[in-house]
Amino acid sequence: MINIAVFISGGGSNMRAIAAAIEKGDIAGARLALVVSSKTSAGGIDFANQNNIPSAIIDYKGKTEDEIELELKSLMRAYSIDFIALAGFVKVLPAKFTKSYERRIVNIHPSLIPLFCGRTYYGLRVHEAAISSGMKVSGATVHYVDAGVDTGKIIAQETCKIEKNDTAESLQKRVLKIEHKIYSRAIGEVIAEIAKTGGNYENGID
Ligand code: GRF
Repeated sequence: MINIAVFISGGGSNMRAIAAAIEKGDIAGARLALVVSSKTSAGGIDFANQNNIPSAIIDYKGKTEDEIELELKSLMRAYSIDFIALAGFVKVLPAKFTKSYERRIVNIHPSLIPLFCGRTYYGLRVHEAAISSGMKVSGATVHYVDAGVDTGKIIAQETCKIEKNDTAESLQKRVLKIEHKIYSRAIGEVIAEIAKTGGNYENGID
């Protein structure tokens, strides 16, 4: 069994979609073992509590990168986490942490990476930028997480049209629907790949 941790900072609609996909058996051999939030008041945390999914808060405030790394690693160890899906997690993971979980951390971003991504692109800003650029399409991207922000190798992408009368809000809604569809599918594929070589995470955590 592959233990998945989903990292969130907000409402967690992607996390819920992942939970539903696991429930339906669409992500074979996996369970949602932990929800980690960077915010205490995230709606996704309420969902986890109501559904008896273990949850934890990671507070970055006043901590060094090394301290955060150690905290995350001990959390991952405590819940025997094999795989991590970032879903609206607004904090950057320590580089050493991403290195030790290489190819076992994925993220979803609401644009066609490498466009409109990186540190300054989050929330509605992504969609505002896509619309004001004049692009005729947007979409969502699932990618591996490396030490950069939205720089890891692309796993899956799906596009949608940008309509003439789109606002950032209407485009966000349309892209979010795509996210809910492609993220679980991509996670299922990556996990199936990992499972071929044993699957469980045994090294790297020191
Ligand atoms: C999504 O658009 C995701 O791509 C981005 O942040 C948003 C999170 O939404 N990284 P939710 O919390 O999953 O509803």
